Amino acid sequence: MNTSVFIASAALPINYTTTWEAPSNIALIKYWGKYEPQLPKNPSLSFTLSNSKTKTKVIFTPHAKNEIDFEFFFHGIQKPDFKPKLKTFFDRIGEYIPWIFSYHLEVFSENSFPHSSGIASSASSMAALSLCLMDLERQLFPEMETVYFYQKASFLARLGSGSAARSIQGPVTFWGKNAVRDSSSDLFATPFGTTLHSVFDNYQDTILLVDKGSKPVSSTQGHNLMHGHPFAENRFLQASNNLSALVPIMETGALDDFIHLVELEALSLHAMMLTSSPYFILMQPNTLAIIHRVWEFRKETSIPLCFTLDAGANVHLLYPKQDIGVIHSFIKEELSGFCQSGQYLLDEVGRGAKKA
Ligand code: DP6
Repeated sequence: MNTSVFIASAALPINYTTTWEAPSNIALIKYWGKYEPQLPKNPSLSFTLSNSKTKTKVIFTPHAKNEIDFEFFFHGIQKPDFKPKLKTFFDRIGEYIPWIFSYHLEVFSENSFPHSSGIASSASSMAALSLCLMDLERQLFPEMETVYFYQKASFLARLGSGSAARSIQGPVTFWGKNAVRDSSSDLFATPFGTTLHSVFDNYQDTILLVDKGSKPVSSTQGHNLMHGHPFAENRFLQASNNLSALVPIMETGALDDFIHLVELEALSLHAMMLTSSPYFILMQPNTLAIIHRVWEFRKETSIPLCFTLDAGANVHLLYPKQDIGVIHSFIKEELSGFCQSGQYLLDEVGRGAKKA
């Protein structure tokens, strides 16, 4: 698809205020490796979450400066240090939303999860902001179709942070051209569709907060280390093959096969970090202790509890809703001791972003 379909026309400015909530997401097939302009080296697939989300309000006021002009508030406090990242985002998306040059924006953002939890908020925050922008664009061009609204919101969010493309819709989304879905694209994420097995509609994700500090190596730095990485091409192929294998599993609900691929992806992601140059380790001793306890628990109980990791030390535990009782007791009694201040967040698969 050509990106020119996403270039809007100019329009007479209006006063407008809107608020959107967008969730975080957790990848099962990992995006790790990209090229300009924020395009993935391999397709990825994720669960859209429910409770971990960003709420963003934007007040659009017409102005005559013909430049992008904004203020940013986080939990009510003006944050000039967040502005450069947003400025880069607006500079990237300006050509697709040229009407933006006629506005002054006040952006008010807040996260539902604790600020220092080690949970990346770039996906949910870029998604929420992109939806506010698309909401105004839809007011300016009311004939806009719903499919286009969500595709362009995902397209804009991707230009802010790759994984943000997957935080617009739910419960499971693809991002990146792949062999199993003709509708898939590198430019925006697309929903899994109606063939998803019902066990995944409300799959649980408990996020064990092993390290609430900021990461020593950012995702963006990690992606860059895939350039010239000795295993990069094989990794991109592995991810594509894993995605093709996972889709039929997510249609039939074969949980043993699901667990195998999800854990393989998590450890393959971290294997890329261990073998980058310079190499780095984001897992911590407690990350490994939890993984071993999860494997023991599964062996002892045959309950389909598995883990995945993002680019950090925290562990996401994934399991069917029907097993909540016994798994919550296990987490409380045996795993919370490995978490910083005993903290963990209960989340589950969600339906995607919504207007607040
Ligand atoms: C390990 O989307 O945070 O979570 O595109 O540079 O903003 P940028 O990176 P980001 O990378 C996410 C990496 C990951 C895997 C994933 O979410 O697919």
